[in-house]
Amino acid sequence: MKKTILALLLLTPLCYLLWSVRSANDPIKYIYTFTGTSAITILMLSLAVSPLKKVVNLMRYRKVLGLFAFFYALLHFINFYVLDAQLDFAFVVKETLDKPFVYLGMISFLILLFMALSSTKKLFRKFSSYHKAVYIVLVLVTIHASMAQKVLSSLEYTYIIVTFMLLGYRVYEKNKRRKIIG
Ligand code: HEM
Repeated sequence: MKKTILALLLLTPLCYLLWSVRSANDPIKYIYTFTGTSAITILMLSLAVSPLKKVVNLMRYRKVLGLFAFFYALLHFINFYVLDAQLDFAFVVKETLDKPFVYLGMISFLILLFMALSSTKKLFRKFSSYHKAVYIVLVLVTIHASMAQKVLSSLEYTYIIVTFMLLGYRVYEKNKRRKIIG
């Protein structure tokens, strides 16, 4: 499959959002849920590429997936800053400092922003080791998404299970590599 086809597929949630948002009772909440769920799901898919590589090699799609996870996180942030905060920067700072779950979301967003900006060939060579911070983002957004709910549903439990599986695989691979070198 060409990367452009994958990119078009990853744009379908946005098309659906634009079409469905008009009938939402609370459009701001709807956009939060839609963009947040899309961002975390695509982020998890990008991290599942490595564990799946023995079954199917999708390594060449990892960067596109990562960039789209950032794209939906950016829409999520725009919803916060433009629609929810009405461009009031003081409100953004207050919400971020007052609500721990927003604080976690903001840290995650800034890390994703750094990763997206340093994903060009030239910059990636220099900053690739920092891209491991994606696992910090994974943990923070899982906590963020869970804290945003009054009661956890099967969706948040799924995020938590997937996060543990991805972290478990990462630790396993690291130990295996250490044993081979040592
Ligand atoms: C830019 C910083 C961020 C802010 C200010 C922010 C803000 C919010 C807010 C206010 C909610 C609650 C919405 C509601 O139900 O009323 C929320 C939920 C959520 N956010 Fe974020 N967020 C940020 C970053 C992120 C990032 C980086 C991700 C994922 C990569 C993410 C994923 C989610 C998810 C999955 C939910 C739960 C959606 C639901 O099921 O209702 N957020 N966020």
